[in-house]
Amino acid sequence: MTPEPTKPYQVIARKYRPQAFDDVLNQEHIKTTLRNAIEQRRIAHGYIFSGQRGTGKTTTARILARCLNCVQGPTDAPCDVCASCLEITAGGSPDVIEIDAASNRGINEMRELRENVRYQPARDRYKIFIVDEAHQITNEAFNALLKTIEEPPEWAVFILCTTESHKIPATIASRCQHFSFRSVDANDLITRMREICVKEGVDADDEALAVIAQSGEGSVRDSLSALDQAIACCGNRLDAASVRTLLGAFGIDAMSQVSTALSAQDGAAMLGLVDELERNGGSPQHFSRELSRYLRNLLVTKIAGKDSRLLAASPAERIEMERIAGGFGEEDLTRYLQFSLDLFRDLQFSLQPRFHLELGLLKMVQAGKMISVEEALASFGKNPQPAAQQAAPVMDRPALDRPPLERPIPTPPVRTFTPTPPPARTGPSPFDADRFKKTGTPATSYSAPAPQAAAPVTPSAAAPANDTEWINRLHTAMTEAGLTFSADAILQANAAVVNGELIITAPKSFQLDLGREEVLNALKKMGLPGQRFKVVFGDTKPVQRAAPVAAVSQKDDETTERALAHPEVQKFRELFGGEVRTVRNLKEQ
Ligand SMILES: Nc1ncnc2c1ncn2[C@@H]1O[C@H](COP(=O)(O)OP(=O)(O)OP(=O)(O)O)[C@@H](O)[C@H]1O
Ligand SMILES: [Mg+2]
Ligand SMILES: [Zn+2]
Repeated sequence: MTPEPTKPYQVIARKYRPQAFDDVLNQEHIKTTLRNAIEQRRIAHGYIFSGQRGTGKTTTARILARCLNCVQGPTDAPCDVCASCLEITAGGSPDVIEIDAASNRGINEMRELRENVRYQPARDRYKIFIVDEAHQITNEAFNALLKTIEEPPEWAVFILCTTESHKIPATIASRCQHFSFRSVDANDLITRMREICVKEGVDADDEALAVIAQSGEGSVRDSLSALDQAIACCGNRLDAASVRTLLGAFGIDAMSQVSTALSAQDGAAMLGLVDELERNGGSPQHFSRELSRYLRNLLVTKIAGKDSRLLAASPAERIEMERIAGGFGEEDLTRYLQFSLDLFRDLQFSLQPRFHLELGLLKMVQAGKMISVEEALASFGKNPQPAAQQAAPVMDRPALDRPPLERPIPTPPVRTFTPTPPPARTGPSPFDADRFKKTGTPATSYSAPAPQAAAPVTPSAAAPANDTEWINRLHTAMTEAGLTFSADAILQANAAVVNGELIITAPKSFQLDLGREEVLNALKKMGLPGQRFKVVFGDTKPVQRAAPVAAVSQKDDETTERALAHPEVQKFRELFGGEVRTVRNLKEQ
């Protein structure tokens, strides 16, 4: 018995190369334009097909060649049976010349091409030059082609295919019609692969096909190659788990460990994940790439919904992603994605990829703890509640539709809003720093003499309670001490106690009158020798104040006290620091 001759195996991408416009996935804008051009007999002499690898450039160029040279043509539906059609499909047509510019990029090859163009087609209507990887052609070689492309013989058509259209010189590009091929839609690709699987007798589940589609990142050829590989590895039954293992893809299950750690703000779990990855021989680069893809998908789900066509995922995965995305806010996911992309970039150059990965993941965990200014402000609007219910401001954000139960653990320390004074700040307040930046006048800070100096001043009976009272009593004390210039100056200043420190803000012109000695003297006279204080000179306008005649009204005091003790004011100062300069009772205006 003679052995059956074995048919040479053809890879799926080639076996199922589209032979007509209808078979080309997506690229509708290109198909329509070319069809119309054929119908109207407006065939250009130069075309540039650009776009991502494996999206149908060479395929479309060949289809166009068949359309133009079919015996029935020019037609947008070539007959498939004439010699031209058959030869072009087989790649053996004498009048369709495919040139690989990657290996024929020099001036000599282009001169040869130029010569070739001059001769009429051997048999067919057009002589079609399909130049693949056209961006590789050298500049001189392009120049040699210029004239030919500008004024070609009537039978010549050039189709330059490239993944990098910006490398085609403008002189050439302006003589051609340019078509950009887009990445192919994942769902359409999945449908196409399902058809191929049926024809090949392969039983593949939805999720497996989604994984394969995703691995190609928009390139049909890459996905079909992955499908080939999967069939070679798993036989006639493709399931998601084995396909993932084969392609090194991480499933939602694996990735959801990251999102769980993020929502739990669990740094230890993150470190555990990296450790496991390392032990299984996984690559940090690959992991971070998959992580970016996962976070991007969560963000898309959050913004566009689980049915978005921007996602390449099976229905079950979509439902799962929706559930996970529900536990995060849009800003959180955006931030995480940004971090993961930075991480991916950094890992490309890292000498310590493991540490980098750990660092990147921990940064993400920490980033989760941040609350935005808007959130902080939004939470002020609410009535103060018992501390236990106030828990994390991150959680009670109705505006950001965060279901609190979905995100159980991000519980920053419970803040109680008892009116305790915030901890004393060291260094100038942000307001002083800002003022300094603008006026160039540093805050003059005087420490009171030891030993009481560092002791925080608790409001005592002796210490004035508000700006007016401070100024009045300082004025009186200065007058009694015979410091008349200082007494005049103090009337035009402001005073406030921030974190136990008395801050006197005065116009620059009083720098000499309100020196350390003068203020210290006055404080001693007031019975407050240990009071910490500083005088800030800036461009402020002098306050127009009359010399004190009477004690401050009891009512003002109370208002200030109440305002400062208000939980929301407390919370604001805790978050942002700063000083409360004046308190106005709006009800009394
Ligand atoms: N839009 C598409 N529709 C259907 N199949 C496609 C499409 N794009 C690519 N393919 C498949 O991928 C294979 C390679 O396509 P093609 O050679 O046209 O890609 P290309 O854009 O020229 O890529 P490259 O830039 O790498 O040369 C084809 O044989 C075909 O099976
Ligand atoms: Mg190509
Ligand atoms: Zn034909």
